[in-house]
Amino acid sequence: MTARAPVNIAVIKYWGKKDKKLKLPINDSISATLNLDDMCTTTTVHISPNFNQDKLFLNGKEQEIQLDSPVKIMLDDIRSLSTLDRKVLEQKALITSINNFPTAAGLASSAAGYACLAYALGSAYGIFDRAILSRVARKGSGSACRSVYGGFVQWVKGNDHETSLARQITDHKHWPEMRVVICIVNEKQKDVSSSLGMSQSVDTSSLIDYRAKVVVPERVKVMEKAILEKDFETFAELTMKDSNQFHAICLDTYPPIFYLNDTSRLIIRICSLINQYYKRLVVAYTFDAGPNACIFTLDEYASRIVTILRDVFPLFDEKNESISELPVRGSFEETTNDAHDNNLVEFLKSSGVLPRPNLLSYIISTSIGDGPSLTSMHLSV
Ligand code: PMV
Repeated sequence: MTARAPVNIAVIKYWGKKDKKLKLPINDSISATLNLDDMCTTTTVHISPNFNQDKLFLNGKEQEIQLDSPVKIMLDDIRSLSTLDRKVLEQKALITSINNFPTAAGLASSAAGYACLAYALGSAYGIFDRAILSRVARKGSGSACRSVYGGFVQWVKGNDHETSLARQITDHKHWPEMRVVICIVNEKQKDVSSSLGMSQSVDTSSLIDYRAKVVVPERVKVMEKAILEKDFETFAELTMKDSNQFHAICLDTYPPIFYLNDTSRLIIRICSLINQYYKRLVVAYTFDAGPNACIFTLDEYASRIVTILRDVFPLFDEKNESISELPVRGSFEETTNDAHDNNLVEFLKSSGVLPRPNLLSYIISTSIGDGPSLTSMHLSV
């Protein structure tokens, strides 16, 4: 069985566990699932009586499956839920997985990866119920429970394994005008992992409780309404405020955690200036546990936003002699002729935003997408 599963980007962030083993969160979260064709994990699960142990290959490299590893926990879970013949359940599995985007880019690869593993294992062992797969994926990495659905998704925090799972708010056809522009920051620095970071925040931040108990419950309600009503301005304001608050919690963690860098902050400034220029919210930034920016916008602005980003972040060659254009990948590559808004460029320049070479390495231009699916393109080792 081979499955493909998408990346999701949280607009109301999950940060903090109340149960580390079960990965039960301290607050609900909401995310947008991205288009599978632009960013996805593909995983093949092959079960055979000829294998003498479970094996895992990630992006071509064999990984040891440790006893307490998420992969082992998920395999055990799926096998114990499966009603297939005992002989089949005793056979070992060969799991092969690849990402179609750089894992090192720190782009929610664990969400797509574990959702894909849950889906592929489920298909191999006869479990197709998405609620069950969402719970299994959650044990891989919390945010993965949202990637088992397309469109806009809420992870209901719940109280235990049974009640902590994702549900779809609306599918990917609901808001076709929504575009997502991802800026890959040119930096190799290793971030504090999300699980270590959130554990330190829960232990030391005095703001995190207030966020989980008071701020998020209200935001989840308003965000769901904004999504259902396709109210971009409310969606955008909440998305930016929630990203800001998540990074404020990181700063309130002791010692503090810094996921944003100068390039991230410059992108925040550019987004704020673009919104100021249009006198309404047309872009919304959000950042996860790393410096890469995810910008939500609507189709009528998308090519102008990409063009502006390419103007501000040119690529220079090693000798700083020739400029090349920042590559744009993804399904919305084409930029139209009216993409260049000279007045906006002048406005940014007069606000002090000048071209800054080599800070980004590329842009991914994508949209909201569907959940995992099976494919006949099987991976081999
Ligand atoms: O599921 P994890 O452990 O990769 O944590 C994800 C945390 C954030 O990406 C920062 C927020 C989120 O809700 O996805």
